[in-house]
Amino acid sequence: MGVFDSGVGGLTVLKELRRQLPSETTIYLGDEARMPYGPRAQAEVLDFVRQAMRWFAARDCKLIVIACNTATSAALETVRDEVSLPVIGVVRPGAAAAVAASQRRAIGVLATVGTVRSGAYVRAVRDLDPFADCVQQACPKLVPIVEAGKAGTPEALAAVKEYVEPLLSEGAVVTPAVDTLLLGCTHYPLLREEFSKVAGPGVRVVDSATTTALAVREVLASHHLLASPTVPRHEVYATGPTQRFKQVARTIFGEDVDVSETQL
Ligand code: DGL
Repeated sequence: MGVFDSGVGGLTVLKELRRQLPSETTIYLGDEARMPYGPRAQAEVLDFVRQAMRWFAARDCKLIVIACNTATSAALETVRDEVSLPVIGVVRPGAAAAVAASQRRAIGVLATVGTVRSGAYVRAVRDLDPFADCVQQACPKLVPIVEAGKAGTPEALAAVKEYVEPLLSEGAVVTPAVDTLLLGCTHYPLLREEFSKVAGPGVRVVDSATTTALAVREVLASHHLLASPTVPRHEVYATGPTQRFKQVARTIFGEDVDVSETQL
């Protein structure tokens, strides 16, 4: 299967896909040269995703996962109509994880500027539970912090505080105002400790990785497309220079990852 992200962060989703589907061969493409997608206009992101879909179409994939929240929000519906392969995004699975975790139906979504602007998470949450309350917060400082290898630093904690505290208190009749935080960006699971610390024990912190892998497994199983037990092949490609990509990949997988350079 193909897994696409704007850069290296989607490896958090790839890791979970590999864990849940250990026999599947994977081809990962990170558009490192043009990341971040978060601050870009939707039309531009759509254009980039179309290029990525063409890249995968030239390879042997049975399904494509768009692991990037910003790309899913801007392009999933459109490219699904244009590509002959099944395409799965991370927004609906992420929303499903949040709805399942929330007891008071009070969900706070943290994401990039582009994802927040699209409103995709709010729509997905309300599709699944029309009674749910869903507030959003754009967190433009967090991707650069993770990319700079600053997870676990006081700077990371301060930035997470700045974004999360308003979600916990604003307009609150009960405190915390939200009982579930949805990490709606590939990079934020790498700041999970900071999120959990700021949110406190009464708030659950969820992301899309587990439920996306579940959704992929269901689709493959229902179409009898699951790979039979075998040793799979894993390839990782990135556009642009791969040095920084490899550093973050090492943090995610806990070991060196072979990365080949490619072009879109
Ligand atoms: N992959 C993006 C996302 O999940 C974050 C990085 C970027 O802005 O490109 O929204």
